[in-house]
Amino acid sequence: MKGLVLAGGKGTRLRPLTHTMPKQLIPVANKPILDYVMDHMRQAHITSIGIVVSPGTGHYIKEALDNTCADLDITYILQEKPLGLAHAVQVSHEFLGDDPFLMFLGDNLIKHGIKECIELFNTSKSDAVIMLKEVEDARMFGVADIDETGNIKQLVEKPPDPPSNLAVVGVYVFSPMIHQAIAKIQPSQRGELEITDAIQKMMTMGYSVRSFQLNGWWLDTGKKSDLLEANRVILDELSTSKIEGTIDTKSTIKGNVYIEAGATIHRTDIQGPAIIGSKTVVEDTNIGPYTSVGNSCSIKHSEILNSVVLNDVLIHNISPMQDSIIGNNATIRQKTSTHESIEFMVGDNTEVDL
Ligand code: G1P
Repeated sequence: MKGLVLAGGKGTRLRPLTHTMPKQLIPVANKPILDYVMDHMRQAHITSIGIVVSPGTGHYIKEALDNTCADLDITYILQEKPLGLAHAVQVSHEFLGDDPFLMFLGDNLIKHGIKECIELFNTSKSDAVIMLKEVEDARMFGVADIDETGNIKQLVEKPPDPPSNLAVVGVYVFSPMIHQAIAKIQPSQRGELEITDAIQKMMTMGYSVRSFQLNGWWLDTGKKSDLLEANRVILDELSTSKIEGTIDTKSTIKGNVYIEAGATIHRTDIQGPAIIGSKTVVEDTNIGPYTSVGNSCSIKHSEILNSVVLNDVLIHNISPMQDSIIGNNATIRQKTSTHESIEFMVGDNTEVDL
């Protein structure tokens, strides 16, 4: 079985961060989202993987995966225009050939379930297995209508009035029959070849489509609040503390905290779950739960809660800062004191003086 990871798209809802980096490379608990996807591929023993990229950001994806995925056989496939997920499969047809494949949207995070999906695909000899997850509001997803026995009756993309609360998760297993179905569909109202329409077409063509209901968490990291939630969920899974950096005797660490190699912590209280990246210096600061600070940052006289701070960031005299995402190489410092909590979405290379 081959793998197909969709890592294109503009990430408009995550601007300004996505002006300078593809959304799939934004770190959650100090690890790019795409790396979690590649870990799932490894666990499923899938080594031949096509990565669909867009012209503006493909080189960032390649550079990142060259560092972390040298053990995998990766083929980069250019999708010139964002014409839909089924279009991404279409442009990957040559790479996929007649092999079955696991398709994973590169901005989706799931806890587990890949193994079960592939097993269901193999044992049921289906032409597609789609993952479903109950959500509160299914209107912004593909939605499945299923009968009492769990068979899919209908699939619809982003319906204003969803027939159920079962959203289509961005993980699919397909036989090569999907290519025939894609050849028969038309672009949707948003001008895209929808994978949901292609799967619906497979069903009307008589191919067997099964569903697998996910019980672990699923996060679609399209916007700021999703990213902060993903960061919380993944930090919550830290089961121990790992201290590889140095902490002075005036600092306290509570809960599960990772202090990576080369980080130094002075006169600082850290309440986990939290992670501090390598070579970061934290002084006279409170780091609250659900905070990830990247590598080579300087944090002084501040309080940071429930936030994601990328690499090479300077934060001085900001207290308290919460629910924030701070891009690479940004500087935020305050000259006069204020007691109000501050919330940011700061892009790379930005300077904020308060
Ligand atoms: C895509 C799919 C949708 C699915 C979602 C999961 O939507 O079209 O069916 O539920 O991914 O993330 P998009 O993110 O392209 O809007």
